[in-house]
Amino acid sequence: MPATVDQAVKKTATRGSLLGIEGMPASEIQKLLQLARKMNPFKARLLLRGKRVLLLFYEASTRTRTSFEIAAKSLGATTVLVQSSGSSIEKGESLLDTAYTLRAVGADVIVVRHPHAGAPHLMASYLDIPVINAGDGMHEHPTQALLDAFTILRHKKKLDGMQVTIVGDVYHSRVARSAIHLLSKSGAKITLCGPPELLPDIATTLVEGLTITRSCEEGLRGADVVMVLRVQKERLAGLQVSLQDYINRYQITLSRLRLVKNDALLMHPGPIIRGLELTWDVAECPQSVIVEEVKNGVPVRMAVLARALGKAS
Ligand code: CP
Repeated sequence: MPATVDQAVKKTATRGSLLGIEGMPASEIQKLLQLARKMNPFKARLLLRGKRVLLLFYEASTRTRTSFEIAAKSLGATTVLVQSSGSSIEKGESLLDTAYTLRAVGADVIVVRHPHAGAPHLMASYLDIPVINAGDGMHEHPTQALLDAFTILRHKKKLDGMQVTIVGDVYHSRVARSAIHLLSKSGAKITLCGPPELLPDIATTLVEGLTITRSCEEGLRGADVVMVLRVQKERLAGLQVSLQDYINRYQITLSRLRLVKNDALLMHPGPIIRGLELTWDVAECPQSVIVEEVKNGVPVRMAVLARALGKAS
């Protein structure tokens, strides 16, 4: 046992960790997506029999949590859910001590969602098991980017050259950040669209070749894929954002959707707020793959868990 916590710090995360898309080579992304294509939750090989997957959620989640759980169980693993509410986190236990505790009871991999950027990275630097980032603050949501890429590829067969327009609250969006990194590494052309309060000019420095527009109509024209982001009302305090103004200028309506290519995909990571980011009829329109994105989260997370535990072949 190390004498101090500092002595226990490791320079790199355990092999199999998935902390973000930014530092991931394009070849690794492709391998994961290929592996996801082989995953079928209804006919899965029990690659993870005997393994324990700890789901540690400090923030609310429906899609990510349930699909990780179904993915793990489909592969034969046992899952345990720990949420901040009802656990010793409420008594003040630190992230690191929580992580040590979950490791001590037998976790083979920890999937963590946390409101602070870098929380999964901190855990990974102290633990000898893989850590998977299920969303850290406003930083990254790597499995969402992977399932979105998986969904685009199912319809379009390629990412290279695709015109992808991301609309809305980019500033607060870990989904957008991971998607931007993945799409950029894959050769897609990315346009960001939103008001300055939710899309500051500095966003252009995220990756090379990003375009920003304040006009929703300009952003949508000719797009192959439209990714609509949730307006994160819980993070808007202190910002001068009028929701009615947002609706007037950026809400995706059927008439705005006519500007995209005929065979364009309409995406949203969820949860969707009908009447704010998009209208009810847009959510239900034939171009919408919003429900399919959720469904694709299962094979993608199966692949991520299999890779984490060295069962990726
Ligand atoms: N897209 C997404 O992360 O949804 P949840 O917050 O429901 O997991």
